[in-house]
Amino acid sequence: MQRFSQKVQEVLDYAADIRNRGTVDLSWMSANPTGWGARAKPRDDRGLGLEDINQIGGRYGAVPDYGDAHGSMAPRGCEVPANTPSLGCYDINDKSLVWADNVALLYDEAVARQWSSARDIPWDQLKPLPDDLEKAMCQLCTTLTEVEFIAADMPAKWMWRINHDFHEVKCFLATQIADEARHLDVFRKRALANGGGLLKASPANEQILRAIIEAPDYTTASSLMHILAEGFVLTLFRNGEMLALNEVEKKIFRLCMQDEARHVAYGTMHLKYFLEKRPERAEQIHSILAAGEEAIFALTLEPQTAEPRAILAGGGVDRILEGFAKLSYLYTKQVREYLHRLKVAGLDRSTRIAIPIELPN
Ligand SMILES: [Fe+2]
Ligand SMILES: [Fe+2]
Repeated sequence: MQRFSQKVQEVLDYAADIRNRGTVDLSWMSANPTGWGARAKPRDDRGLGLEDINQIGGRYGAVPDYGDAHGSMAPRGCEVPANTPSLGCYDINDKSLVWADNVALLYDEAVARQWSSARDIPWDQLKPLPDDLEKAMCQLCTTLTEVEFIAADMPAKWMWRINHDFHEVKCFLATQIADEARHLDVFRKRALANGGGLLKASPANEQILRAIIEAPDYTTASSLMHILAEGFVLTLFRNGEMLALNEVEKKIFRLCMQDEARHVAYGTMHLKYFLEKRPERAEQIHSILAAGEEAIFALTLEPQTAEPRAILAGGGVDRILEGFAKLSYLYTKQVREYLHRLKVAGLDRSTRIAIPIELPN
């Protein structure tokens, strides 16, 4: 007869007891008595959202200022047996370090608006383009493919440390990771779908990516990424018509823009929540943003970053100067929108910004 470990034998004995004597426990049926009787209701025809569950309040809906100390994955609101082991990994237990008041709604929206880079882009509408335009688009897509995944790696770096009681934040960050995977994927596809290919990587962009990945804590990383870097990208995508050469690219920019708008909205409201609870940290955020602003500004020094955009905006390599003029208008928009978002978050950088608001003509 096959020999099993003691644990496996215990289970077999337990199952035999149930079979032979009908001894069942059923104590779990009377667990968590104050949590019984919940009836969450959809707020509208969008269905039963994560936020609707929180409207119940009490042990399910109230998000604690400090995550429960048991350190397990036990879901918020259930009864946690005393022998539940701590996983020892959740050390971001303070709500102010990760929370944003819009995070549950943003998760609901993200789930509802997922799209497919395979199915939702009219790839069959791609037509051969003049060499300078195809090369400019392929270089832009090379750069975007290079930078998009930081916005997945950064949440992934922090997410597993966030207390399970803040599951709304973790769920939202999981959608952001999926969004960014799609962005990497769609820009790579565009570069490889119309007779071109990937062109040149960007050492200057790597410096910014490093600053985000090495930021000392979640909120500084989030300020650099969600508000500064993704904010600039959001304004760029919002003006995607300026760079797009056809319906394929217009659709790509439009769909990516929707996703980026959520990421930026979370980052802005997270910084607001954080600064309301920890106003003494404002100077630290100012100084990390100043370094980030300089790094973004320095990207212009890199021909593979600036020139392709100018060729696309101008409509050809022979109209690159016209393109640069359009880009400087876009740059001002990027800076103004960034400053506005910071103001909403409670951080006024209008007189402290480390880069010019307008570029000289
Ligand atoms: Fe993205
Ligand atoms: Fe993003």
